[in-house]
This record gives sequence, C-alpha cells and structure tokens, in this order.
Amino acid sequence: MCGIVGYIGPRQAGDLLVSGLRRLEYRGYDSAGVAIANGELEVRKKEGKVDELAALLENRPVEGTVGMGHTRWATHGAPTDTNAHPHTATHGRFAIIHNGIIENYVSIKRRLLEKGYTFDSETDTEVLAHFIEDVQEETGLSFPESVRQALTQVEGAYGIVALSMDNPDELVVARNGSPLLLGVGEGEHFVGSDASPFIEFTRHVVYLNDGEMAVVRRDGYDVSEINGAPVSKEVHELEWDLEEIEKGGFEHFMLKEIMEQPEALENAMRGRVRADEGTIKLGGLEYVTKELESADRIVICACGTSWHAGLVGEYLIERFARIPVEVEYASEFRYRDPVLTEGDVVLVISQSGETADTLAAVRQAKQAGVLALGVVNAVGSTIARETDAGVYLHAGPEIGVASTKAFTAQVTVLAQIALLLAQKRGTISDESLRQHLDALAAIPEQIRTVLETDEQIQAIAREMRLAQNALYLGRGLNFPVALEGALKLKEISYIHAEGYPAAEMKHGPIALIDRFMPVVFVATRDATYEKVVSNIEEVVARQGSVIAITDAGNRDLDELAEHVIEVPKTADAFEPLLTVVPLQLLSYHVAVMRGCNVDQPRNLAKSVTVE
Ligand code: M6R
Repeated sequence: MCGIVGYIGPRQAGDLLVSGLRRLEYRGYDSAGVAIANGELEVRKKEGKVDELAALLENRPVEGTVGMGHTRWATHGAPTDTNAHPHTATHGRFAIIHNGIIENYVSIKRRLLEKGYTFDSETDTEVLAHFIEDVQEETGLSFPESVRQALTQVEGAYGIVALSMDNPDELVVARNGSPLLLGVGEGEHFVGSDASPFIEFTRHVVYLNDGEMAVVRRDGYDVSEINGAPVSKEVHELEWDLEEIEKGGFEHFMLKEIMEQPEALENAMRGRVRADEGTIKLGGLEYVTKELESADRIVICACGTSWHAGLVGEYLIERFARIPVEVEYASEFRYRDPVLTEGDVVLVISQSGETADTLAAVRQAKQAGVLALGVVNAVGSTIARETDAGVYLHAGPEIGVASTKAFTAQVTVLAQIALLLAQKRGTISDESLRQHLDALAAIPEQIRTVLETDEQIQAIAREMRLAQNALYLGRGLNFPVALEGALKLKEISYIHAEGYPAAEMKHGPIALIDRFMPVVFVATRDATYEKVVSNIEEVVARQGSVIAITDAGNRDLDELAEHVIEVPKTADAFEPLLTVVPLQLLSYHVAVMRGCNVDQPRNLAKSVTVE
C-alpha cells in the first residue's frame, strides 16, 4: 500500500527520494510525488509509475536537501495527478504526505468548507492539510505543535510526513496505525514506511509506535507522544541489507523469491530443527511454551496467503499436538465479537507484520487477556512488536506482491511449532518425532529438485495462458495448497481461479467443467489419494483438462492427466511445502506469458495497512 520516504541531510533530495520510491514500488501504488524545500516548496506529482515522476523531475528538476516522497494507492478519489500526494496548504507553504485513512475527514471538511476553505482534490489527506493550516491560524502555534494539535482531533489511521517553510530544516512525522520508522545517519536522517528506501545509507532505525510523533532534523530527532509527553527511543540495527532487496539477476522478484525457497527454509530452521538430537528449539517461544502447550484452543488469525498457511498449521497442530485449532480471517475476527476465554491462545501469521486486520486481531486478543503470538517475517514490524512472543520466519525480505517464500517459511515454522508442542505434550513418539525432523530437514533439498521442473511447467503455462477460468482441487493438507495455487494465479495473471476441496467439486463447481477449463489437482499418495483419483476421473469424463501434481514415480495418473508434475516423496504432513512450488511457478509463467506486471499486479498492495 502507499509508501513514504523522507530525507533531511546534506545530499540532494530529488534523486534519493525517487530511488527510495522505486524501492517502495513493490507495495502497490497508482501515483507518485515529491515535495522538496528550495527557498519555497516545490511539488512534483504524477499519476502512474515512479518512472513518470522521474521524467517530470528531469524536465523540471528541483534542488534541495530536505524533502519527502510518496507512492499513493488510491482510497479517496481516483488515481490522478491532483489526488496524488504531497498535498499542500497555507498557499503552498507546507506539504504533507499520508498513508492510511482519516475516518472523520467528512465532518472536518464540512467545518472547513463553512470557514471558506476550498479543496483541489478528493482526498482525505488534503482535508488534513487544511485542517493543520486552520489550527495554526487559529492558535498561532508553531508548525509541529499545530500538527500535534490537529492530530489529537483526527480519527483513523495515519503515517504522515509534513514539511513547512516556517522551518524547512525539520520534518514533522507522526504515526497511528500505519507503519513509520526513522533512519538514523551521520548528520542526516531518513523517514520511511519501511526501511527499503534508505537501507543503502543506514541500517540504524527507530520504530515509531502508534500515537507517537517526531520532529526530525539533520543532527537529531525528538520523539513524543501525540498528546505531548516526550518519549525516549531505542535505536535498532536492521539485519537485511541492500543486496537482499534487489533482484540479483532474476527478471522478477517473484521468480527470485520462488527460487530462493531452499535457502529461505534452511534459514527458517537454522538452529531450531535439531534432527540429530531429535529436538526443536524455538527461542521466541521459550517463555510462553508452558502456556502454549496447555492451551485449550489455538485461534489462528491471518489474511490471504498467510491464512492459507494457517490452514496448513491447523492440520499440523491438531495432528501432532492434538490441540484444537480454529483458523479465522483476521478481517472477520473482531467483527463477530469472538468468544475468547482463559486457555485460548491467538496465533497470528503475517509476512509483513503490518497487515491492519491481523494487527487488529492481536489487539483484540490482548484486550481479551489471552496470549497473542506471532509468526512474522518482517523483523521489528508492528505485529512483531505488539505480540507477546513469536517466531520469526527469517525468510529474508519478500518484495513480490505475490507471496511465495513467505508461505513455505510460514508452513515450516508452523510445522516446528506443531512438533515442539507434540513433544512437550507427549503426543508424538520419539521415533516419529525424529522421522519428521529428518523429513523437515530434507525439504530444502527436495525443493531444489522441484525447481528443476521449471521447464516442464513453462510448457504447461504456454497452454494455460489462454484460459479464462481454472479450478484447483486438493484434499486434506493439499486443500489449502489448492487455495493458494488459485490465489497465486488470479492475483498475478488475472485468470479467474477457484480453489476447492476436491470432494466439494460435485456440489457445484463441476458445472463449470468443459474442455476449456484447466483443472489442477494436488494428488499426492496420502490417505485421501484414491478418492482424489475418482475426482480426477469425474473431471476427465467431462472433458476437463487435468494437470496433476503427484509424488515422484507415481504412474497412475499418466493416462488420466494431460500433464503430471512430480514432486519428491516426503512425510504426508509436509507435502504442502513441495506441492505448492509448481503452482507458484505455473502462475508466474502464465502471468509473464500474458504480459502481466508480475511483481506489482494491478490494484494489489504488498502490505495492506488499511482495514
Ligand atoms: O503480510 P501479510 O502476510 O499479513 O499479508 C497477507 C496478505 O495480504 C497476503 O498474503 C496477500 O494475500 C498476498 N498478495 C498473497 O500473495
């Protein structure tokens, strides 16, 4: 979703802001803009991609060493030049960029209209700009204090950066519900909605919490609560470096991230899965293991791909640890007033650690007084900081909007949690634990083998690229994989795709099947295999074209399916880690062949920070 970068220091801000905005492109956006202080405030903004903004800046360059940049993902008003940020007020003397949604902007706007203010855009952000202007005029306060005063009357979510010609040697930033952090350099400071725009300059960061604001200068910063009290902040050091957030020779981030899954999973298990000792160590859960192992129920909350990983987690935790698990869409969780009682544990899963609905589930859990745990990739993200404890994925930054390595790393971590709990609760024998740890440790190497099917998958993609609909079917642990395969295809190739439990096909989707409908079966030889083969027969009988993912050496499906993709045999419980990989590659190649923007699919954002 929207991206923010800010800079104050000795460097020319223009190029730095544009390159920062390019790094934020992965979040999804539809217009971009900058404001730079240069004796007066110079604003350049443009609908479309950062390239178009860069071209505008080339035609009308701006000098200056203080500025801010924004990529906007439209919420209020269409993606147009006028609605793009920054928005200005006080006759262009100050500018603001904003991520999030001002919920009471209509009533504020009404009051401002009555006072004679006029608005150029349809955005809630311009309303905020004029509101700050109005507060300053009414109170005579300094610019930072006027921002503070205005924000105390604002409802909703925001991450903002504001720059006023009253004092062009400071940036005023504030956060409530939309991530924002400061980058701390020598004689220079940065602001970002994440660290990617400034990571090449500094790895020292200060995370702002909700309800905090900061005045940032070249030589320092002051953080305070929006309601006034000063706050002293810790400086953290980031683990990720620039190389990790660049494409490294791959055409797209998505392909890079699919291909780096073996290493990502090795990292997700490093020092944790001790196959030789038959033990698992999850440092992040050490202090809560007792509470977790005696939980009456685990409620998993997540969105999108992370929700699919949660469904796999449900199978794994119930199968191994015999603790009842429920999986909830985080976006629905709080709205149905969930019953959370003593003995419940809420476990949220989020790659970005910033998904607004998932964060709300954490807060709901804490309000109910139950333990809130996180399985998160982005170190230092809001969810990572607000949960009571948790496990990092250590999968490295995921930039492609379509989540790939995060999914397999999430399942890997959930498998570890399930086995750890099973061991503690005595619901798994030592021998079975050892076998499963061995199987888990072997997965990265097996994924390397699956990745070798890439050419075969490209050939299948060539046929599939013309489809208008596709069905993905699986049972048991392969049902969430079917859901994930369908989500991957639709989000990046715009082919309509549905995932279903294979046996449910007869209850509706079978009506869609004809020779133009590719049906992807995840059909590994587990307990439900025979039944899945019958479902394949039913599709073939209706001339559906079957693509089957199955175990290496299984020849049963050769006659039935048009294409059979083989994956190495692993323990049944870990099959999703292998069967999902061909589906990621398939959607990637179909999308590329259809000329789609794989890394930044239309309308989608990497980090969904609005509810
Ligand atoms: O960062 P999160 O894991 O919380 O994100 C959740 C979803 O927004 C995300 O998985 C989304 O569905 C992806 N685009 C799927 O590829």
